[in-house]
Amino acid sequence: MNLSKTEIKGDYLNLERAVEILKRGDVLGIPTETVYGLAAKISDDNALRKIFHTKGRPFFDPLIVHVASIEQAKMQVKEWPEGAQRLAEKFWPGPLTLVLNKQNHISELITSGLETVALRCPKHTLALKIIQELGEPLAAPSANKFGKTSPSTAQHVIEEFAGMVSVVDGGACQVGIESTIVKLTETSNRIELTLLRGGAISLEEIQSTLKCLNKEIVIYRPGTNIEAPGQIKHHYMPSIPLLFIERPLWDSLGENLLQKIQKINNKLNSQFENPCFLDLNSDPAQAARELYSKLRTCSLPPHDSIVFIKESVYQGEFWLAILDRLERASSFKLLN
Ligand code: TXA
Ligand code: MG
Repeated sequence: MNLSKTEIKGDYLNLERAVEILKRGDVLGIPTETVYGLAAKISDDNALRKIFHTKGRPFFDPLIVHVASIEQAKMQVKEWPEGAQRLAEKFWPGPLTLVLNKQNHISELITSGLETVALRCPKHTLALKIIQELGEPLAAPSANKFGKTSPSTAQHVIEEFAGMVSVVDGGACQVGIESTIVKLTETSNRIELTLLRGGAISLEEIQSTLKCLNKEIVIYRPGTNIEAPGQIKHHYMPSIPLLFIERPLWDSLGENLLQKIQKINNKLNSQFENPCFLDLNSDPAQAARELYSKLRTCSLPPHDSIVFIKESVYQGEFWLAILDRLERASSFKLLN
């Protein structure tokens, strides 16, 4: 099939056309169970560069490599530790990314010059079929402009890039927030796990999956140790300012606070006159599924701001992952 570029830009594509675009070295919006990705084949540095240019992403922020099988994952790394095998068997395809020592062929554009590569097998039939048909893995960050709210529908991708990126429509993402990222280092008697980004799969589940290997398990959590490059402070940001505030503070300060922010903000030329209150489901799985769609809807006129009140019942690892996104998405943060 011969397609001119203008014909396909911003289209919703079928599998055949999707693979063709990737083969010729262009970027493409693909569905996964977490969020939509902006994909390119890993063997082509020019295609990889297009990801960074399209997103406006700095080159120091490394990309995740998406594979269709454990076999394909093994080909991308120097060693495939027992722990990786256990975790992949248990959670793949699914929202878990493993950071391991990279094979030589992995481009520096993918790893930002690191010796490690992030790997995951997405739980989405279309994504898996595309990778299989293409015959090689896909590098794919979330399909949003750098620092902005991630996309959880194909429509979000079309809107984000004003129709300049084609996308395969695989429906609304079932998980809704990005994968859990864990760096794994293993010796004969010890496994070190560093949680680089929280997600739907908890460290607790990961730890209990590794118990059967009878090795000492050492956990490093973000904040206490290194953070993933690219896990920058401001991220996931909607198009209007978001206030992140804990319930007790909201109850004591409330509307007065909005007026104060309004005053400060008027000087900066934005306002808190017509806020949208971001209301999340009490089930974190459902809250995650709806999070990015709700952030986008809340950003629409007539709203000029978003208020998120953190309730005390938002406890546990899944909530931590959601709250981490919202804190990074906020312009103002008021914590007890
Ligand atoms: O669910 C997901 O993971 C989605 C879908 C599309 O798969 N992808 C995603 O990609 O969230 P992105 O680019 O938005 O986030 C990737 C993050 C980087 O910002 C960085 O923090 C981390 O993965 N990362 C990638 N390679 C790494 C490495 N070698 N070492 C440490 N962190 C790495
Ligand atoms: Mg992202």
